[in-house]
Amino acid sequence: MDSAQAIPRHQTAIARQHLSKPISLAMADGILSDKSTLFDYGCGRGGDVARLQAMGYTAHGWDPGHSPNAVRRAADVVNLGYVINVIEDPTERVQTLASAWALARQVLVVAARPEWEARTITGHRHGDGLITKRGTFQKFYSQEELRNWIDVQLGTHSIAAAPGIFYVFRANAHAQTFLASRARQRPAAVRRPRIRQALYDTHREDMDALAAFITSRGRLPEPEEVPGTAGQLLSAFSSLRQAAAMLRDVTGSQDWDRDLERARRQAERDLLVYLALATFRGRPKASDLPKGIALDVRALFGSYRIACSKADELLHGIADQKGLNNACSLSHVGKLTADALYVHATAIQLLDPLLRVYEGCARALTGTVTECTIIKFSRITTKVSYLSYPDFDKAPHPALATSLRADLRKLDVKFTDFRRSANPPVLHRKESFVPLDYPGRGKFARLTIQEERAGLLHETATIGTHARWEKRLQDRGYRLAGHRIIRTTTATAPSAFQ
Ligand SMILES: C[S@@+](CC[C@H](N)C(=O)[O-])C[C@H]1O[C@@H](n2cnc3c(N)ncnc32)[C@H](O)[C@@H]1O
Repeated sequence: MDSAQAIPRHQTAIARQHLSKPISLAMADGILSDKSTLFDYGCGRGGDVARLQAMGYTAHGWDPGHSPNAVRRAADVVNLGYVINVIEDPTERVQTLASAWALARQVLVVAARPEWEARTITGHRHGDGLITKRGTFQKFYSQEELRNWIDVQLGTHSIAAAPGIFYVFRANAHAQTFLASRARQRPAAVRRPRIRQALYDTHREDMDALAAFITSRGRLPEPEEVPGTAGQLLSAFSSLRQAAAMLRDVTGSQDWDRDLERARRQAERDLLVYLALATFRGRPKASDLPKGIALDVRALFGSYRIACSKADELLHGIADQKGLNNACSLSHVGKLTADALYVHATAIQLLDPLLRVYEGCARALTGTVTECTIIKFSRITTKVSYLSYPDFDKAPHPALATSLRADLRKLDVKFTDFRRSANPPVLHRKESFVPLDYPGRGKFARLTIQEERAGLLHETATIGTHARWEKRLQDRGYRLAGHRIIRTTTATAPSAFQ
C-alpha cells in the first residue's frame, strides 16, 4: 500500500484553543522568549504560530498538509510538536527529525504522544503503531524509547522537559545553563527598604533587579550578567558593589546580612544539586562552564574541584536507601508516612539536597510533570511519584487524578489514571504537605483541627479513598461545607472500617 497516500495525516491536526503544551512549556522554561525566533515544523492548522505572533513573537510555521507552500526557515527554537507520532514510515520519521534539527539554531523541542494515551484509543495495529478509527496513524512512545530514538538519530543528549517532550540543545553550554536554572530556587522576595533614600528611589527598579539577582544567586553579578540594570546603576554608582552597599543601608544591615547568608546557602545547595545531576550528561570541564555558572562556583565554593567533590558525595548518597529514608524522616517539610514522604510541588526547593537529587534523577526520566501537585518519595524502594490533585486548593479532601511513577532502578515510568474512577484515593490534613507560607494553609489546618475533634481522622489507613471517607463522615453524622465540617444527624453505629 502507498501508505503516504492512504493515510490522511493532515487530519491529525486539531484546531487549538490554547498554546500547545510544548510551546507553553518552552516559554515557562525560558527556552522561548520574545527575543527568540520560532519555527513550527509540522504546524498543523497554525494555532501556535498565530497565537505567538499575536503576543509579539517572531514565529513561522510549515506543514505539508495545511501550509505546504510556506518557507521552511531556520530559527532559534524549532518545534516538532506531535508530528513524528503521526508518521507511519520509520525512515520518514527519522528524516523529519533530522530536517527539523537542521533548522534549529539553539533548541529543538520534540513532542510525541506518550504510551499511556494508547489506552484511550481503539484501532488496529499498523507497523509499530495503530490505525485509529478515523484512519490516521498514531505511534505512542515510552519516555525512554523517545529519548533513545532522538539521541541515537541526532547523536545528542536530549533533556526530558516533560512526559513526551524533550529539548535538544545545539550548544552544551546552553543546556548546562538551562539545567542549572532548573535547580535554582525562584528568586526570593526582595525586602522593601526600611528607610527612604533619594538615590535608591531614583533607581528603584534597577536596585530591585540587583537585589533579586543577589538573593537568587547568593553573590554580586558581573555587569555583563545584568546588562540593562548595570548600565543604569553604573551611571550613579562607581561599582555594583557600591550599589549593593546602598541596598544594605536602606534595607537595614541585619535584615540584609541575614537574607544574604540565607541566599548564599540556598545558592550553594542549588549549585550542588545541579552539579550532582549534571553527571548523567557528563559534567562539563571547568573550561567549558558557562560564564554565569563559573562565577557561581568561584563565589560559592572557591574552586570547581571542591564543588564537584561535594556534588559527588551527594550523588553517591542516593544509592544508600537508608540515607534516603533518613533524609525523608528528618525533612522539616512534607507529610511523612511509614512508607513515603509526600511534599507539595512548591516546596521541592526546601528539601534536603539529597532528596532534591533523588527527585532530579526521577525528573531526568520524566521531565517536569506540569500537572504535579504532590511528589511522593518512597522510603522503601527507589521510586518517585508525581501525583496530580487538580482541586488541591479548592477541595477540602482532594481526589487523586493521575500518578506518574518513575522507577529509578528499572529506569521506567508508569502512569495511572484515576480520573474515571468512582473511588479515587483522597487526601487528608492538606496543611502537612505545603510550605509554611502556602496560601490557605491556615484554613487547611483549621479544618484538620475540627475533624480531629470530631474523631473523623483516626485510623487514617481506613479513610484513604473517597468512598471510605464519605462513609466515615456519614457514620459520624457530618458533612463538609467548604473547609468546614457541619453536623447533619446524630452518628450511626461505627462502621466495619473503624
Ligand atoms: C497532530 S498534528 C500536530 C500539529 C501541530 N504541531 C500542533 O501541535 O497542533 C501533526 C501534523 O504533522 C504534519 N505532518 C505529517 N507528516 C509530516 C512530515 N513528514 N513533516 C512535517 N509535518 C508532517 C501533519 O500534516 C499534521 O498537521
